[in-house]
Parts: sequence; structure tokens; C-alpha cells
Amino acid sequence: MTGTVLITGPTRGLGRAAVLAMAGRPSAVRPELILVGRALSAVAAEARALGARVHEVSTDLSRLAEVRAAAGAVRQLLDDRPLRALVANAGAMSSDTREASADGFELTFAVNYLAHAQLIGSLPPPARIVLLGSNTYHANVWRRLLGVPEAQWRDPVELARPATGAVNPGMKAAGVAYSDAKLAILYYAHELQRHVGPGVAVSVFEPGWMPGTGLGRGAPAAMQAVGRALGRLPGVSTPERSGPALASVALDDKWAGLRDGAFVLKDRIVEVKPIAHDRDRERRLWAATGELLAA
Ligand SMILES: NC(=O)c1ccc[n+]([C@@H]2O[C@H](COP(=O)([O-])OP(=O)(O)OC[C@H]3O[C@@H](n4cnc5c(N)ncnc54)[C@H](OP(=O)(O)O)[C@@H]3O)[C@@H](O)[C@H]2O)c1
Repeated sequence: MTGTVLITGPTRGLGRAAVLAMAGRPSAVRPELILVGRALSAVAAEARALGARVHEVSTDLSRLAEVRAAAGAVRQLLDDRPLRALVANAGAMSSDTREASADGFELTFAVNYLAHAQLIGSLPPPARIVLLGSNTYHANVWRRLLGVPEAQWRDPVELARPATGAVNPGMKAAGVAYSDAKLAILYYAHELQRHVGPGVAVSVFEPGWMPGTGLGRGAPAAMQAVGRALGRLPGVSTPERSGPALASVALDDKWAGLRDGAFVLKDRIVEVKPIAHDRDRERRLWAATGELLAA
């Protein structure tokens, strides 16, 4: 065994593929795993069958009380040992931005961002923190053609507020909320590095577009079918391709020098767009997050 890795959202898609990639490593370099999420028994059994030592911390990330309890359970499991890596992989895209978490926050922002900020803030600093980003924070020609909206940044307290009204604001608003949550993760990563200091490696992993994962499960069936069809195009990724790359960023020496929220697209470091660096927004997000989590 070589250290302990905590991963959220390990039950399907990218997280499951990363877990199996870590569990399948030779025993001398195989980490102990702490799985944080819902309905963990199937993936835990798969990882154990590969030889891994696995702990299950059952947690609904849309409930901050459960996230705090999970952090307590993880601290007990670690018994003062530091985590080798924390992989904040869980993600969701609610198809209705009026949908609220148990704590009253817009669900996409709550699960992708707030739950991870709570978890990370409640644990001793791991050696590596890998957050999950998405290139949808900015627009490009393909995303415009496919109708995938870029982020439309607002004050974090507003981003955390569910939409109101009798009618679902629709998939475009849902996409904006997702892109905003992923831009928040970039801002958070930059600010987090300033707070934890250079001893912790903070990076952001982008798996590439993986159509057909559970992320789009709330989208209309026709949209999901288009996604699955596009998934057969060359160059498009899958959990099976990107999961081992995520495991590598969490574990391998070649990534030990990542700092300051370095953005890794599958297996190469990419410069983020200028909009993803903004000291004022980063500071404000940090302060607002403290207020939201304390509420
Ligand atoms: N798919 C893409 O093209 C793409 C591109 C860029 C970035 N990403 C990011 O990659 C990460 C993994 O996405 P994916 O495509 O693998 O999606 P996925 O197949 O839907 O997997 C998401 C994981 O998050 C978990 N999760 C969601 N809501 C949760 C909650 N309330 N409590 C606990 N766990 C929860 C899911 O658990 P359940 O099984 O319990 O729902 C699942 O294990 C996400 O952060 C996503 O934003 C994906």
C-alpha cells in the first residue's frame, strides 16, 4: 500500500474508471481508497476484487450535514495520517435551476462546488488536491454549435440561489449553472493554493468531453441520444480513456510539481483563458463560500 486516496463520486463514469485504474495498480504502488458518495457497494466490491483496501463513506453531497459527517468519518479512518490525494470528482448537472439542495442552494453549484469546498475545508491538507474542471467555462466554436453555454459569472451568493418562477428556466440555464460551477472551481483552486501554501499540490483535471456519462442524465432523451452518437467520433473521450489519466494526476510522480490550480487536460497542462484568473473574484468567492457554508 502506498498512502490513501479519497475520491468523491466513484460510482459511475469517470470516478468509477479512476477507482478501477488505481485499484488495478500493482500492490507495491496501489493506494488504499476512501470512496465518498452514494450507493458505493458495487464499485467498492469491484475495487476489492482487484486487490485494493477500500473504505466506504456513504454521503449525499447535496446535504452539507452529510458532507461534514463524512469528513469526520474520514478523519477517524486516517487517524492522523495525511491523505496522499483528494480527488473531488463528483459532479452533477441539474436540468432545472430551481432545484435546491437540502441546504437551499442551487443544486449544481451545491454538489460540484460547495460540497467539495466543505469537504476540503474540513480535512487536514492532503499532499495533492485534484479538482474537476470543465472547458465549458468558456465558449468555443464547437460548444456554440452544440449549444453548450459558457459561464456567466455573478456574485457567488447569487450563483448559490436557486432560480424562482413557475416554469423551468430550461437546459440553457442549466448549462450556464454548470459552467459557472466549473469556473468557481477554477477560482477556488487558485485561492485554495494561496491558503494551503506550496506544500500542497492543487490542480484541476479536465477529462475531455465524455458524452453518454451520467452527467447528462437529466437532459431530454433526444439530446442524450445525440450525445451518445457524437461519442463515437474520434478524439472524443470516454471514462475508460480519461479515468486512468485522472488516477495518474492523483498518484504519479510526474505530476507532483503541479501547483496553483494547474489545468490538466487529460495528460497535458493547458493554459486557462484569462477569465479564469481574477484575484477579486477569487477573494470574493473564498469569503462568500465561508458565509454560505456557515449559514
Ligand atoms: N462527462 C463529461 O464530458 C465531463 C467533461 C468535463 C468534466 N466532467 C466532470 O467529470 C466529473 C465526473 O463526471 P462524469 O461524466 O463521470 O459524470 P457521472 O457519470 O454522472 O458521475 C458523476 C458522479 O458524481 C456522483 N454524484 C452526483 N451527485 C451526487 C450527490 N448528490 N452525492 C454524491 N455523489 C454524487 C454520482 O453518483 P451517483 O451515481 O450516486 O449519482 C457519480 O458517481 C464531474 O465533476 C464532471 O463535471 C465531465
